This record gives sequence, structure tokens and C-alpha cells, in this order.
Amino acid sequence: MTYDLRTDLAGVARRAIANVQARTTDLAPDVWLEPVANYADQPRHEREIEVLFHQTPLLLGLSCDWPTPGSYTTFDHIPERPLVIARGDDGVLRAFLNVCRHRGARVVHESAGTTARFRCPFHAWTYRTTGALAGLPFKEGFPGVDECTHSLTQVGCREWNGMVWVVPTAGATVDLESHLGPLAPLLAAYGFERAERFTANELPATNWKLAVDTYLEGYHFASLHPNTINLINYDNSMVFDAYGPHSRQGFPRKNLLDLLALPEQNWEVHHHLTCVHQVFPNVAFTVSPEGILINAVYPGARFDESVTVQTHYTREPIRSEAERAAMQQRADLVKAVVTDDDYWMTASIQAGTTSGAQDVVTFGRNEQGLHHYHRSLIEAVARPN
Ligand code: FES
Ligand SMILES: [Fe+2]
Repeated sequence: MTYDLRTDLAGVARRAIANVQARTTDLAPDVWLEPVANYADQPRHEREIEVLFHQTPLLLGLSCDWPTPGSYTTFDHIPERPLVIARGDDGVLRAFLNVCRHRGARVVHESAGTTARFRCPFHAWTYRTTGALAGLPFKEGFPGVDECTHSLTQVGCREWNGMVWVVPTAGATVDLESHLGPLAPLLAAYGFERAERFTANELPATNWKLAVDTYLEGYHFASLHPNTINLINYDNSMVFDAYGPHSRQGFPRKNLLDLLALPEQNWEVHHHLTCVHQVFPNVAFTVSPEGILINAVYPGARFDESVTVQTHYTREPIRSEAERAAMQQRADLVKAVVTDDDYWMTASIQAGTTSGAQDVVTFGRNEQGLHHYHRSLIEAVARPN
């Protein structure tokens, strides 16, 4: 049977309505005890980087982030993997290690732009946007060096239904079918090819999983976000679905029950329910009527540092200054809520991890998104390379 997004979302809305009417939420069978050490252990952190950030497909952005041939960005948030991602003059998007094939200097220093050639500042070797070595001064000094032997080193990169995925390891391929599994039809149905980039913020935080955890339950809306999210969404009411290691949660908005006055075929579910998708391992993306919000969390070299790249896209081109102002207001609000509330809380949790207060933290039955996420982490980290 082919996947139909409207039918799927109507089902989520029906379940959310039942939860709200019964003043409950989807529940896991039991509580989950997560060892505190998993947030504060450097060897575990390094294993996570190796398995989850060097070998797993990562959602680095949407196609619109590289709009034309020659568009490029550099990306430095994956430990030990400085990247340059470029749409070649042939239109194909590729990702490379940002390391010169002469003596290994960083080639591209700008964060983004459009160019015909990359030029290493050390000895002026140049590369095409396809990564091919284009030229080098005093070529007679380098017998045997040519585009076959000394082009930029490619890593796995794949553009798929408007989304851009990278496996940042030399020679890697992106096996998206097995990574996404049952999540693929849902992602494909959103039509991200039409999205337009609006703005992005980079938010520092503590352990990267503490940051991801904040997107996976709505049990804290009333207590931590009383004057922002809690005015829009019901507290502690989630509809949970797992897709392999990934998940989706529907967080009902306070106007959810208005749907009951409409025939189901007229439901515009996103106006009544916020869907947050956890794309394993590091992304929470939210689809709302206004746009798409991607929160991608990257670990620092140390276990207690991370950065979240928070990018806002519109689902269709912006048509008016009023729309632009509303999007900017929303982006500012989201940044403030995440920084001042959620990541303030992750810092306080991090400080307690080494206190000896407890060996485990407890995820309630109502914090099912956390259960699934940490179960998926255990399985991924235990898998042999
Ligand atoms: S290191 Fe890049 S040109 Fe020499
Ligand atoms: Fe929050």
C-alpha cells in the first residue's frame, strides 16, 4: 500500500484527541533507568562519535542550502571531519574533506558562498567545485600529480527528496534505504524540494544527548515553558510512533479539539498538532504550518560540549514582508526557548552527573520518546564496526 501523509496524520490526530479527552498520553510499558555515566563518560562519547557521527548518514541540510552550481558551505561541527559541501558545476552535490591534497592545509575558509574554484591559501593549488584538482603552480615540480591522484577526498553524500545526507568518512557511501527504513515514505511525502532556507542559529550546550533529549517529551511544557510552548501545546500529551531507530511524536496544540467540528477529510492536522521527528541519531525536525525547523545536535570533542545547528525553512517561498516578520519572530522565540529554558536545563543536569547523587536517571512511562531513543543508542553503539 502506498503511503499517504494525510491519512497518517489524521490517524495521529484521532489518537491525540483520545489522549487529550482522557487527560493522558501514550505510555511505555514501564519506566526506563538510564545510567548517568552515559552522559559523562569520555570513552563512550568517543565511541558515539565514531559509530554515530563518522559512519551513520547525517541529515546536514536541505537541497535549498546549495541552490545553484558552485554553491558551497563549509561544516566544522563533526569532530575530526572538516567538510566542504559543494554543488558542482555539473549540478551534483558532493561532500569533501576540507584538506588540501598538497600538504594538508585547510582549503576553504569561508563559511558559505558561490565559486567556480576553491584555492588553497598555502601554495595556491586550485580545485573545481566537483573536487577535481584544477591546477597548481610549478607543475613540473610534481610529476605524477594530477586530477586522478590529488583531487579533494570525497566522503559519502546523497541528495534525496530535497534532503542532504552525509557520511563524513573517506570513500563512504550513503545507504539511506537501510538507515531510514520505514521512515523514508514519511520524509519523502513532505516535499522538502520546495523548501526555502530562512535563517540558522548555532546554540552551544552540554552533552549532545542531553540536548537531543529535550526534544523528546512534552512532560516539561507547563513547568519549564509556561509562557511560551505551554500556551500553544498541551502539557504531557504525546502520540508516539517508532520507525526503526527513529521516531515521531505528535504534540497536540490547544486547538486540537476544534477538529471535531470538521469532517475528517478537511482536517489540516499541522494547524492542530506539532509533529517532532527524531531522525536518528542527532536530529529533531518539526513540521508546522509556518515551516520546517531542523535542530541538529553535534557532539564536541569532549563529552560535555555540543552545538546545535538550528535551521528554519519555509515550506513555500515567502510572499510578503508580514510573512517574513512572522518567521523572524518565530525563529527568535525558538532560539530563546531552547537556549534559555531547555539548554539551561541540560547544563544543570550535566553538573549533577558527576555529583554521585544517583547512578541512573528515570524516564517515566510518559517519556516514551526517551526510552526509544536510548534503546536505539545502545543498539547502535554495541553494533560491531
Ligand atoms: S597545502 Fe594547499 S597548496 Fe600547499
Ligand atoms: Fe523544551
